[in-house]
Amino acid sequence: MAHRYRSSLTWDDVTPEHMFLNRRQIMAGAGAALGTGLIGGKAQAQDTLEPNTFEEITTYNNFYEFGTGKSDPAANAHMLTTDPWSIEIDGLVDNPGTYSLADVLDGMTIEERIYRFRCVEAWSMVIPWNGFELADLLNRVGVQDGAQYVAFETLVRPEEMPGQRRNILEWPYREGLRLDEAMNPLTLMATGIYGRTIPNQNGAPIRLVVPWKYGFKSIKSIVRITLTDEQPPNTWNMLIPREYGFYSNVNPNVDHPRWSQATERPIGGGLFSGRQETLMFNGYEDEVAHMYEGMDLSVHY
Ligand code: MTE
Repeated sequence: MAHRYRSSLTWDDVTPEHMFLNRRQIMAGAGAALGTGLIGGKAQAQDTLEPNTFEEITTYNNFYEFGTGKSDPAANAHMLTTDPWSIEIDGLVDNPGTYSLADVLDGMTIEERIYRFRCVEAWSMVIPWNGFELADLLNRVGVQDGAQYVAFETLVRPEEMPGQRRNILEWPYREGLRLDEAMNPLTLMATGIYGRTIPNQNGAPIRLVVPWKYGFKSIKSIVRITLTDEQPPNTWNMLIPREYGFYSNVNPNVDHPRWSQATERPIGGGLFSGRQETLMFNGYEDEVAHMYEGMDLSVHY
């Protein structure tokens, strides 16, 4: 199968996997680590990268298909049937088709990645995802010349998704990435949390995770992936374009029109923990800033 996606990375740019993981954990811990110094002789980031508890990660969610409240997904998502599941992969690919979840997972390396998660509502968590790189899947289906974007869609099944019986959003929930963003090694397709099957409220059986973007870009319960030459529509931009753009990179310098993005409230931080500063690209600047060189990020928000 031809892998015609051309990466600008050379082999020398590719960091060995263990270094890469460690570095990412350090990045993930950077915000929380400020000012704590060394503990027990170990690097501070390793001690301070505190993932949220499974309980926190699975009870405080946004998944409008199950309601607009933070506890609605945990209360309602058990109604969703996630087996059988298939994903249609179409558009500018060599091997379009409807792939069962087993087909999609076959041959993928599932690993754990601890990522900072920053919601556009200015709260944050640290989540240990299990998943594989989206690039591996795209390379397998063969991205054709001319493809510039990847579009994603969530399942539409109002019988099992009570939120879809209301017109809160235009269903299906949609998201999109530029092809280079989709191929970035940080971009994950997640199938688990804490080594367990991903709970329905977090986007079972498979969801996107793009750690340098606001959480709404990380679309859940994906049933369709389309390679295209046009910038695809994305749900929040369709609804309120003035507030939500296509890129939605975490950026403390560009405020949401109704609130500041300079700081964030860590969920589960305890009584005495305050807000913390939001980091450019959510702390993943070294890995992703090169993709936006020359772009005015206050225009492309
Ligand atoms: N995906 C779908 N299909 N529907 C949604 O409502 N909400 C988004 C994103 N993906 C959403 C979605 C938003 S706003 C956020 S903050 C994250 O999911 C929340 O992910 P989490 O519940 O796993 O923390």
